[in-house]
Amino acid sequence: MLSYQHAYHAGGPADLHKHIVLAELLARLTQKPRAISYLETHAGRGLYDLEAAETRKTGEAAQGIARLDPDPATPFGRALAAVRAAAGPSAYPGSPAIARALLRPQDRLALMELHPSEHAALRTALAGAGVAIHRRDGLEGALALAPMAPRRGLVLVDPSYELKPEYAAVAGFVRRLVAKWPEATVLVWYPLLPALRHRELVAGLHPLAVRLDEVAFDPEPPRGMTGSGLALLNAPHGAEAAFAAAHAQAKGILRPLRTPAA
Ligand SMILES: C[S@@+](CC[C@H](N)C(=O)[O-])C[C@H]1O[C@@H](n2cnc3c(N)ncnc32)[C@H](O)[C@@H]1O
Repeated sequence: MLSYQHAYHAGGPADLHKHIVLAELLARLTQKPRAISYLETHAGRGLYDLEAAETRKTGEAAQGIARLDPDPATPFGRALAAVRAAAGPSAYPGSPAIARALLRPQDRLALMELHPSEHAALRTALAGAGVAIHRRDGLEGALALAPMAPRRGLVLVDPSYELKPEYAAVAGFVRRLVAKWPEATVLVWYPLLPALRHRELVAGLHPLAVRLDEVAFDPEPPRGMTGSGLALLNAPHGAEAAFAAAHAQAKGILRPLRTPAA
């Protein structure tokens, strides 16, 4: 069993990038009353406490959400406010909680999480009507479920990239997923690390029509991850605005990089 725990990174600059874009995309996908599906391959525990020892230890939240005062009129601000109203002022929503806060009773969620304690915590935080929580490999599970009904929807792919082969595996997974479920919008997160391993993932996505958004963390961390990347496929109309919204909302925390040509 791998050891990654998202509590160490919750609310950091990478989470802001991913979560603001996710919230903007979900707001666009739910503009029409028609139901949508939401699927996550790597869900995490769903709900985090910024006062927890793990979260305080890395200081990532101090460089991220602690420096932001989200506008409750934005989708991300709305989700954060809803989660804090229910769970207290030091709560920080993981991506499943952001999705549940923004989705409607007619929408369906399917969440994959392999780690036993993260899966148990996810069940405690998110179990409810319309939410299916699976303890299984996220890539295998998503391909088994695809296409979900309703077919219109969003798949978030957010692995921990603990193993080098994950970059190529994610690209291969996305190619198979969009072949099985062409209506799904797919959002893939990847880290920008000095070893530039994400290039293998991006190259593997390029046979598809993909939009990339890469940001550097400001200030630049002294070591480790220097920035965050998102790859978006089958984007809904106007989706470029989701990237611009994240840049505007997290200005001073995230610095947009010149995005490689898609
Ligand atoms: C980056 S975290 C997810 C964070 C979450 N998406 C969020 O934004 O709040 C990655 C998660 O994947 C889980 N994980 C690792 N390998 C997995 C696998 N093969 N299938 C499903 N989940 C896995 C880890 O336990 C961890 O909770």
